[in-house]
Amino acid sequence: MSQLKSKGYAIYDYMDALEYEGIKTDYKVLLDYFEDLPVDDYAPELNRYRRYSRALVLPTSKSLEWLPNVERDGNEYAAYFQGKFNPEHPGSYREFHAIDPHILENELLNKIIMADYEETFWGEEDQIMPIHVGVHFVKLEVEKEGDRAVSSPDCLHQDGEPFTFAHLIERRNVKGGLNAIGVPSVGGKQPEEVADEDLHEVFKLNRPLESYGVEDSSVSHYVGPVMKGGAEGRAVRSVILIDYQLTVVADVGDE
Ligand SMILES: [Fe+2]
Repeated sequence: MSQLKSKGYAIYDYMDALEYEGIKTDYKVLLDYFEDLPVDDYAPELNRYRRYSRALVLPTSKSLEWLPNVERDGNEYAAYFQGKFNPEHPGSYREFHAIDPHILENELLNKIIMADYEETFWGEEDQIMPIHVGVHFVKLEVEKEGDRAVSSPDCLHQDGEPFTFAHLIERRNVKGGLNAIGVPSVGGKQPEEVADEDLHEVFKLNRPLESYGVEDSSVSHYVGPVMKGGAEGRAVRSVILIDYQLTVVADVGDE
């Protein structure tokens, strides 16, 4: 049984696990793309930058199909439904700048999405519909000493999607940015407010493509604020977050 299934979370090293010829080149393309991410419109003051796109995985063929964007003022946006578990954005729709087409074709990104998908598990009856995949490129960046870049929400929480994975792209000159996995009941708390036995693991993603995944209903998770480390220059923590959820259909009555 996978650790994701037995414990509700797992930690991975995808640079190792996905190794193929060209992985370094494809990784560099993703890394460079994070340089110019637009500010997260929903949190401009928080030093957060983001892009987002959605796809479907078809369970039979295991093929990946990107969903269309909406265009506004010459920019491409992807719509996002935030599940009920984010206390900062309860039950709201948001729109994010979409990820550019040449990045959606990046082989490494596609391999990551499918490797995560292979880790997920569903009931047989759930697999008659496509699985919805949300891909977030998120960068926390701090220029000034004393500033903080904060993830949303800034506490232990559950996402509401059945599975979420985080893949480190870069961690540079960062103090903080600590990850924690806890039992579900500590949602809303800071890790330091929680008894040791209610925290499964506290860890840091350091190297490119170090990753973790959660089966959301089994655990809560957390990433701490990012601050400047001891070196010159900005603090940067970039991750690709990928969530997986079922196609939701309305109840069908007799009439
Ligand atoms: Fe989360």
